[in-house]
Amino acid sequence: MKDMIEQYRVTDEPYYRAVADEVDLFEAAYAAKMPVMLKGPTGCGKTRFVEHMAWKLGKPLVTVACNEDMTASDIVGRFLLDADGTRWQDGPLTFAARHGAICYLDEVVEARQDTTVVIHPLTDNRRVLPLEKKGELLNAHPDFHLVISYNPGYQSLMKDLKQSTKQRFGALDFNYPEHATEVEIVAHESGVTPEDADKLVSIAERARNLKGHGLDEGISTRMLIHAGSLIAGGIAPVAACHMALVRPITDDPDMRDALDAAVGTYF
Ligand SMILES: Nc1ncnc2c1ncn2[C@@H]1O[C@H](COP(=O)(O)OP(=O)(O)OP(=O)(O)O)[C@@H](O)[C@H]1O
Ligand SMILES: [Mg+2]
Repeated sequence: MKDMIEQYRVTDEPYYRAVADEVDLFEAAYAAKMPVMLKGPTGCGKTRFVEHMAWKLGKPLVTVACNEDMTASDIVGRFLLDADGTRWQDGPLTFAARHGAICYLDEVVEARQDTTVVIHPLTDNRRVLPLEKKGELLNAHPDFHLVISYNPGYQSLMKDLKQSTKQRFGALDFNYPEHATEVEIVAHESGVTPEDADKLVSIAERARNLKGHGLDEGISTRMLIHAGSLIAGGIAPVAACHMALVRPITDDPDMRDALDAAVGTYF
């Protein structure tokens, strides 16, 4: 088991450019054993931030991508049949709680509500996880920490987190970084020149203004890194932007032409 947890250790520093005081706040929340919720649009650095914090705190990181088919057993654990009969296998949440890892439940609202309530006893001062099928009440390891992410834009009222879940967490708002910071990140991650990174960020800023006016979501930092990587790999900037920035986010011909025109004003 000890060896298994080692696989989850973050050994090399993940590059993370802090945008405000989120690093200090996360460390304080960790010390206070306060679970943390990361809110923000897709591709703005939430996952990278958790990876960086796990590295900084020297804790293993167990990540679970939540989906609507997920059951409580998928995260808590279940009995498996093998040659010698049945054997209990910890799910990722239990594994993290037992061994003192940071557990990151990504897009937690996607999971069914019976799944989200299993985290309740873990995220108040009890810090326990009842493994009902196994008849075990697991006391969380003192190093265990729970982090969840969610994108407030995507939820219908039906699928929001319950207040009783939300109120167990401290929350950090994430968003696209301000211009100069985002230029730095895009240049660093993609290898594109700072001049071209600057143009990419400017294109994204224009597109972000169209959110809610024909676009569901703005061009993310992740997409800018895609475009930058294509450019750094020798693709003409206009073609790179069409492929990495414009085509993925719209199927509407008018919106596509408007975004292509924005690309044309910079490249
Ligand atoms: N502040 C930052 N410092 C360093 N890299 C960043 C930062 N913000 C974004 N990035 C880059 O953007 C990419 C996308 O970020 P990330 O995968 O963390 O997004 P996310 O918010 O988790 O998105 P999703 O909600 O879709 O999972 C990262 O791989 C990283 O290269
Ligand atoms: Mg993510």
